[in-house]
Amino acid sequence: MYSVREISPQIYWIGGNDRRLEQFENLFPLTNGVSYNSYLILDEKTAIVDTVDDAITDQYLENIEHLMQGRELDYLIINHMEPDHCGNIENLVRRYPNVKVVGNNKSFQLFEQFYNMDITKNQMIVGEGDELNLGKHNLRFICAPMVHWPEVMMNFETTTGILFSADAFGTFGALAGNIFDDEVDYKGLYLDEARRYYANIVGKFGAQVQSVFRKIGSYDIKMICSLHGPIFRKDLKLILDLYDKWSRYEAEKEGVVIFYGTMYGNTANTADALANKLAERGVQDIRVYDVSKTHASYIISDIWKYSHLVAAAPTYNMGLYYPMDNLLHEMIALGVKNRKVSIIGNHSWASAANKLMTERFACMKNMEIIGNTFDLKSRLKDSQENMLDELADAIAASVLKKSE
Ligand code: FEO
Repeated sequence: MYSVREISPQIYWIGGNDRRLEQFENLFPLTNGVSYNSYLILDEKTAIVDTVDDAITDQYLENIEHLMQGRELDYLIINHMEPDHCGNIENLVRRYPNVKVVGNNKSFQLFEQFYNMDITKNQMIVGEGDELNLGKHNLRFICAPMVHWPEVMMNFETTTGILFSADAFGTFGALAGNIFDDEVDYKGLYLDEARRYYANIVGKFGAQVQSVFRKIGSYDIKMICSLHGPIFRKDLKLILDLYDKWSRYEAEKEGVVIFYGTMYGNTANTADALANKLAERGVQDIRVYDVSKTHASYIISDIWKYSHLVAAAPTYNMGLYYPMDNLLHEMIALGVKNRKVSIIGNHSWASAANKLMTERFACMKNMEIIGNTFDLKSRLKDSQENMLDELADAIAASVLKKSE
């Protein structure tokens, strides 16, 4: 059975959902699936904007067959050549052998790398500012390299103000019939997952996101159609403002994320005691995570959200406790910056964690150390409470001063 929705006269959502996939990119846990969005424009000419992952091919082809009613497909626009959106290019070229596949040089280079089909005769190469007229509708191409791969493009439909934005403004989480932001509780259902998606998938490329903002700043955008998650037609400002903040690596909120590694609970005990002391000093909305338990993508998401971070971990094999080391390496790879950081090490006979955590944070830009970094010997004793009080004072003062 087909499952499509009209999003504007002659323009349809023809995507689908995968709720079976355990991990996006085989890396990021999906608790409520993911949607792969694709769009069909039925004008004097017909055009599809991006395809879908091959996990939902049957549904996808049924959707297209239902709407096309035997018409020819004139254009297949490839805004993003990552396989979660390209799984059906070959199928569509087989079904519509005369279709013009619209992309840039990089898109076709990647197509050749990923697939075996020769589509040279179908290629239509476009670049920045080119336009494709379909009859009433007119698509302008905007190059958006590295948001999230080098070939990425967006399209601005100049008569309706629809921005087809590729991965940008997308989110984890399947759709449930309601495909528009005003049909769902976006903040309740999707916002945290949109941040997790941004931070982990696009987070490294903040400068490139800013560059796209400079290109589309003067456009009168009425609707944003991403490749994942709800379409924005009501509160576009919400996601545009957040993307601006996220891509500048600015915290959304003053608040503290404490993430710790612990073998026998002693470092966890210190982290909890610190959280308690921060709460007593008036700090709200504190987050505490065990890096061995919570998938790094969720911690990274809160690192993007909050202003202050506390890392606490033991020495392990004369190095840093592995899950903490992995998390800090991910933060470096994603280009995390502009945060206030506090560090607590732990060791029983030889100390390395403290020094290594300090070195890792030094690899990130504009990370200001708050309070005295200290190194526990196996566990925090009541007699050492003053050390924790001093750290809590310093963090709370910094958070509360900024919140005023
Ligand atoms: Fe949804 Fe970058 O792929």
